[in-house]
Amino acid sequence: QMAPRKRLADGRQRHIAVHPEMTDFTVKIAKIIDETADVRIFILTRPDGGDLPLAPAGSHIDVHPNGGPMRQYSLCNPASDRSHYRIAVKRAPESRGGSAAMHDRLKAGDSLTISTPRNNFALQDTTGKTLLIAGGIGITPILSMALQLQELGRDFSLQYFTRSIPLTPFRDELLASDLSKKMHLHYALDPDSVKTYLRHLLWDRPEKGQLYVCGPAPFMQMVQDVAAATWPPDTVHVEYFTADPRATSDQGDAFEIVLSRSGRTLMVPEGLSIADVLAQNGVEVELSCEQGICGTCITGVLEGTPDHRDMFMMADEHAANDKMTLCVSRALSKRLVLDL
Ligand code: FES
Repeated sequence: QMAPRKRLADGRQRHIAVHPEMTDFTVKIAKIIDETADVRIFILTRPDGGDLPLAPAGSHIDVHPNGGPMRQYSLCNPASDRSHYRIAVKRAPESRGGSAAMHDRLKAGDSLTISTPRNNFALQDTTGKTLLIAGGIGITPILSMALQLQELGRDFSLQYFTRSIPLTPFRDELLASDLSKKMHLHYALDPDSVKTYLRHLLWDRPEKGQLYVCGPAPFMQMVQDVAAATWPPDTVHVEYFTADPRATSDQGDAFEIVLSRSGRTLMVPEGLSIADVLAQNGVEVELSCEQGICGTCITGVLEGTPDHRDMFMMADEHAANDKMTLCVSRALSKRLVLDL
């Protein structure tokens, strides 16, 4: 019996391009700011001081910290200002090295390899009202959206839920700016109170309204569940800024994998991912995020049923069961035959 996990309610709500063309380049860390006890802001510039590639609101970049795994961070600078990128990194308590590497090993003046920006969370054109909802560090793409909507003079409001006043990234900046008039801050609400508030907020969908939400996975799920009563799926947009920590690969029963090209059979025990077992046995597969969010490790499945735990593939791709991510997904059947 597998433990229940939250998944995307509707894969179509993630506007993900499969295998997008991305180019890596080097930036300089111009400044690091301790924003809260667990969030650091990084200001990134081009080494020659020139303009950075255009990044519309909602864009994110892949960051490759030296010696740490790749992570994706949303840009939270105004899209119209191409002199710098700004990212905010929360040190994750369950960090597998990504946010810890960003917090501990980097200092102002260092170089950093990043990708060109990609946007899976673009603002839709609408003449109706835009509703932005952020939970904690999920404020980052939402902030760039608010700045852009403000610049465009569009109708919007921002709901921002955090644990406490000191743990509210960008609080001072938001309160000091014109965005403060469009913003509602909610501190330390228990989940039931958040749900009650959302029910009132989302019950009346403004005509042509669009809803954007970013935050921890359970928070986003709650917003989507509440919104589902009155908001059509194509008006609700979500962005996973990090993998759901419950969707890690190591919990689950052991199973067997067969590598179809060599005929080798390997055991994947509880506590290890398919990718771990392949690495231990000298089978090379390309990995990047190791969190089920980038799609690099997708591999064909010839027999058996995967237990999909990634957040990259669409719902219909999951249902087809003919490919899977090796970094986080496991098996529902006792045996999987992989196209390897
Ligand atoms: Fe990114 Fe597996 S390595 S999805």
